[in-house]
Amino acid sequence: MTTLAEAARPLAAADSAFRADVLAGLAAPRRAIPARWFYDRAGSELFEAITALPEYYPTRVETALLRAHCGEVAALAGRGRAVIEFGSGSSAKTPHLLSAIDPAAYVPIDISGDFLRASADALAADFPALPILPVEANFMAPIALPADVARLGKLGFFPGSTIGNMAPAAAVDLLRTMAGTLGEGASLLIGIDRIKSSDVLIPAYDDADGVTARFNLNLLTRINRELDGDIPVDAFRHRAIWNAAAARIEMHLEATRPISFTVDGTRFTMAAGETIHTENSHKYGPHDARLLLRAGGWTPIAEWTDAADNFALILAEARAPATAP
Ligand code: TRP
Repeated sequence: MTTLAEAARPLAAADSAFRADVLAGLAAPRRAIPARWFYDRAGSELFEAITALPEYYPTRVETALLRAHCGEVAALAGRGRAVIEFGSGSSAKTPHLLSAIDPAAYVPIDISGDFLRASADALAADFPALPILPVEANFMAPIALPADVARLGKLGFFPGSTIGNMAPAAAVDLLRTMAGTLGEGASLLIGIDRIKSSDVLIPAYDDADGVTARFNLNLLTRINRELDGDIPVDAFRHRAIWNAAAARIEMHLEATRPISFTVDGTRFTMAAGETIHTENSHKYGPHDARLLLRAGGWTPIAEWTDAADNFALILAEARAPATAP
């Protein structure tokens, strides 16, 4: 349902940021659009469908790890904390954690506001006594936590290997920002996907049913709808590529024929085979993952992986930097 207030909403700051990112990204010599713009309502729902795909192992493996080890997490991180989830989406993995650690509050942070509130409402039904304080925000920027959680110990929760969607330098910046948001003495439970055979990786990002393709292509539909575009969506195809040198899966939208289109009055032309780069998913070996955390101001204190070492769940603590030697 659209309320009158929403329909009459003036151009929000988020809309102009979307416009600026798309226009700059389409004009760049190597076209790229930041991945956070995938997540309109349709994109968020398609993403949830991705997490249920047989090819998409990360969600299954991480959920099993959480289910198996949340008691240990509770013992190490302590009960009665505020759980702060970065990029909470549907909060599908959260109940396992919440029932184990018995938190004093839950703060889901997500860029998709209506999705965030729907998920928070669903969770509230299962945890009626738990204060749930949703924050609609881009978690890449420093976030002011609700005043109610100021005096509580903090446990950050960053599942889904979302950290891999940033280039390593940006991932380190984000980890440092999180350490600043959560404060000294905070813990962070983070899921990080491992480097593995491209025979496993590629299908996870290019499934047989084409759900990931629809997710990627939905970005173009969103641009057409929200930014007055006339992009011929059917002239694009989804590509997933393993970039071994950078240890990452790349998602692109590839023009299958020469095309010309406008977005917000600006004309763009693309040759057949040219792509718009829409997502990176960096993968980390065991040492890489721990080094990344340390570089970001977090000291790993425990780690759980599946038998095949496909995915790691790591608990880390924010500590004051050592001064010696
Ligand atoms: N962070 C997860 C990953 O990289 C989930 C994800 C983000 C994703 N964007 C995606 C999965 C696009 C598939 C396609 O795997």
